[in-house]
Amino acid sequence: MDYESILKEIYSEVKPIISEGKLFSDIPALALVPINKFGMAIKTVQGEEFTIGDSNESFSIQSISKVFTLVMALKEWGDKLWKRVGRDPSGNAFNSLVQLEYERGIPRNPFINAGALVIVDCVISSKLDNAKNAVLETVRNLSGNHFLEFSNEVAISEKKTGFRNAALANFMKSFGNIHNDIDLLLDTYYHQCALMMSCVDLARAFIPLANGGVMLNPPKTILTRSQAKKINSLMLTCGLYNAVGDFAYRVGLPSKSGVGGGIVAVIPNILSVCVWSPGLDGFGNSLAGSLALELFTTKTGLSIF
Ligand code: DON
Repeated sequence: MDYESILKEIYSEVKPIISEGKLFSDIPALALVPINKFGMAIKTVQGEEFTIGDSNESFSIQSISKVFTLVMALKEWGDKLWKRVGRDPSGNAFNSLVQLEYERGIPRNPFINAGALVIVDCVISSKLDNAKNAVLETVRNLSGNHFLEFSNEVAISEKKTGFRNAALANFMKSFGNIHNDIDLLLDTYYHQCALMMSCVDLARAFIPLANGGVMLNPPKTILTRSQAKKINSLMLTCGLYNAVGDFAYRVGLPSKSGVGGGIVAVIPNILSVCVWSPGLDGFGNSLAGSLALELFTTKTGLSIF
């Protein structure tokens, strides 16, 4: 497959819409990023890499981080997780509160904010007050980039405006579904969202999900094949929130987005791919990034279907 030419074609086709989306203004530090950025990186399970545009520039990974904490929690807690969080799409926005009361503090899935908070709570319970470092270490190991850092500026900015997340966390605590201190929980969650990574870092870090649970450099089993399948299935059904059905129709890949404008997708046994463009659509997903992935599966003929 000539991935290099395909990336060039995609870049020229998405260029006209790169600046059309909206920067995420709920987190003021994210609204300072230049909107005209676009990068894309592919890593195959054979270890080849192909890139275009701003693929080495770091951005705030935001909700993409929820996949990393899910990997950590699933390894540690196994099926016990599913007593505290569901596995179905929510049909609501990622930061919605409405379902939680009806469903007695059990979030629909691990990727909406409420579900991700429960997952972080599990990580804190196993790592105590070192959860933040444990997340950073995990992501450094998965990506092979030992210089990765949190952006304190983004974490602080989100803390100042994180009223909904504080509400979700407190509400779930009232149902007994958060076990640790709320300030520690939110601080850990804001930092994981404020991890700064490039498309290349993310494509590398997601390789175990494309490769039956095994990372490439160094070769190491991170998840069982079955756990990797489960996380991919959750990304397919819940990874893009209330846009997930439309995205699956257009792209046809397990994917996870973040309001920093990144989207990572996986083609099992073939490759992982990350795209970044900070202009978002009305659902909080990268506008040019979604189109780029749609063009990618159309042009390559690759998808899970
Ligand atoms: O908690 C929040 O709302 C943000 N830190 C993350 C949201 C997000 O990335 C949703 N993804 N599209």
